Amino acid sequence: MISRRQGHIGGVKTPIAGALALVFSVLSVGAVEFDKDVLPILKSHCFKCHRDGKAKGDFNLEPHQIKEHIGAGLQIVPGRPNSGLFMKVIQSDDPDNRMPPKGAGLGEKDVNILKLWITQGAELGPGESVTPGKGPLEGVWTNKSGKKIKAALLGVEEDKAILRLANGKTYKYPIASLDAESQRRVKEFAEKEG
Ligand code: HEC
Repeated sequence: MISRRQGHIGGVKTPIAGALALVFSVLSVGAVEFDKDVLPILKSHCFKCHRDGKAKGDFNLEPHQIKEHIGAGLQIVPGRPNSGLFMKVIQSDDPDNRMPPKGAGLGEKDVNILKLWITQGAELGPGESVTPGKGPLEGVWTNKSGKKIKAALLGVEEDKAILRLANGKTYKYPIASLDAESQRRVKEFAEKEG
């Protein structure tokens, strides 16, 4: 027979649940998306000086250009948020080196999003699927009502052509609304892209 002796455990209660505070609650989201999470931060804090037609320090953060700055030894090193100049200048305390140079720096939440984006590989979204080495296709596009649009074709996303106008604005234009000739050029571009 097994005799069971019951011990008595003293009344020491540990509030474990309380200790498991939401330490990593800053970003409970899964993957950071370039379009949705990263681009808005760059637009509001960096584009003033780092965009098409105004790339201070030869640094252009527009979706079709940012790729030039992503890679080993470049400003943004995929998987290594502490390596590149990009995160360094954002987090710098030195007013001579910090980006943005004036005004309040980025908030902690934004810094964490950018860091996480780089940690996850600094991937660009489908809207920026312009393959490296292949520039935008400048041209004049005609729509079905005969209106001409002078724009650079950056890429193709499903049934939309991503066009950048001379003023720097980017539009997703329905390919079906273009005339046959323009549609042909968009398709040709999309095929080369793949
Ligand atoms: C008011 C203008 C302005 C804004 C806004 C600004 N920058 Fe800059 N940035 C500059 C200038 C000017 C330079 C080049 C001179 C220098 O290095 O100080 C530069 C250089 C840089 C460089 C160095 C590029 C290289 O390889 O030498 C990085 C990286 C950079 N900026 C990142 C950013 C980021 C990220 C933001 C947004 C968080 C930002 N900047 C916002 C003006 C700006």
